[in-house]
Amino acid sequence: MIVGIPKESFPGERRVAMVPSVVPSLTKAGFDVAIEAGAGVSAGYLDQGYADKGARILGSRAEVFKTADIVVQVLCYGSNDRTGKDDVPLYRQGQFLVGFLRPLGAVETLKDIASKGVSAFSVELMPRITRAQSMDALSAMATISGYKSVLLAADTLPRLCPMLTTAAGTITPSRILVIGAGVAGLQAIATARRLGAVVSAYDVRPAVKEQVQSLGGRFVELPIEAKDAQDARGYATAQDETFYRRQRELLGRVVAESDVVITTAVVPGKAAPILVTEDMVKGMAPGSVIVDLAAERGGNCELTEAGATVVKHNVTIVGQVNLASAVPYHASQMYAKNVATFLLHLFKGGKPELNLDDEITRETLITRGGEIVHGRVREFFSLPTPVAQAQA
Ligand code: NAI
Repeated sequence: MIVGIPKESFPGERRVAMVPSVVPSLTKAGFDVAIEAGAGVSAGYLDQGYADKGARILGSRAEVFKTADIVVQVLCYGSNDRTGKDDVPLYRQGQFLVGFLRPLGAVETLKDIASKGVSAFSVELMPRITRAQSMDALSAMATISGYKSVLLAADTLPRLCPMLTTAAGTITPSRILVIGAGVAGLQAIATARRLGAVVSAYDVRPAVKEQVQSLGGRFVELPIEAKDAQDARGYATAQDETFYRRQRELLGRVVAESDVVITTAVVPGKAAPILVTEDMVKGMAPGSVIVDLAAERGGNCELTEAGATVVKHNVTIVGQVNLASAVPYHASQMYAKNVATFLLHLFKGGKPELNLDDEITRETLITRGGEIVHGRVREFFSLPTPVAQAQA
């Protein structure tokens, strides 16, 4: 089977879905690898590097789609809502597609893909089980975003992060608050600690307290308890508005005392909860910074503008989206490792048969045989049970 990698087409995207060092893991398993010329350049990988590792270089995007049995992208149509649709005429019946598809985004996108007879796998739906960890691209990208969020904050902040004792006096350390201590949040805590900041963190899931503390952060305990804070998959569950209101009241003081607030709180399939209101922003010291990693999902701060950096009430609010793309070398390396492991899992011996009894395969497969086949995705979009299942 030929694995084809087109150049990413989302405007400003710098990552690439495959890196030279990962190519041999696929070729040794019987896959051929073909990549569009120049696809890796913006991430720091030249064509020659791929060719040296046994990949074929193809002249155009169309040629990649024509040649490949499996097309691997970072942002597929779906998560690429700007230029992704241009790929639809290039899809071929029976082709496999692997990448970020934003499966709970727009149903029309998924229908378009299904109607072309493409079997599409969404890496966002990778189950959170131990054996899938090395294929978990969402976590890999969250790690990078968490790291980068702190660098952006430090770069914007008019203060130093570490405590310094100098001949010109003593500098007190910056106080960084991380709201949402999942994968991105924990990496933000670790990075902020490396810069010497005093770090505190809060999460609706009490289970993360120990993780925050093990990274040298202080866990902020609020006298409210979320109902069933965590679902079976480890994700936070949505809470009611009374909870969020109380949470904002209690967080207000901690936010006001912080020089930087990094927010990462999301709930799958829902708009991000508002945790930092305009009044809370007004309460922060001039020059403070908020980096809102939930910007793309509506933002955790009321004043966040997705894709922009704005200054409101003397506080800089960074709503940059797709932060992983800003560290394209390592983001691509991690992503390539994730998808190569995934392909080796899906296509045993390089053969196109899928084992739908396998949880990883079943949970990530969105379209097949012209239909959207994923149960949870169908339910989310209130689609009726597919004919095949109804008859079973
Ligand atoms: P996420 O990106 O869905 O959300 C980020 C964080 O925001 C989560 O920690 C969530 O609890 C928190 N949050 C949501 N609503 C909040 C609110 N109102 N106030 C404060 N915090 C709020 O989460 P992520 O990073 O994907 O991780 C979720 C969990 O899954 C973590 O425990 C992580 O360790 C676990 N995980 C397990 C994996 C595996 O077993 N293979 C792989 C990756 C993550």
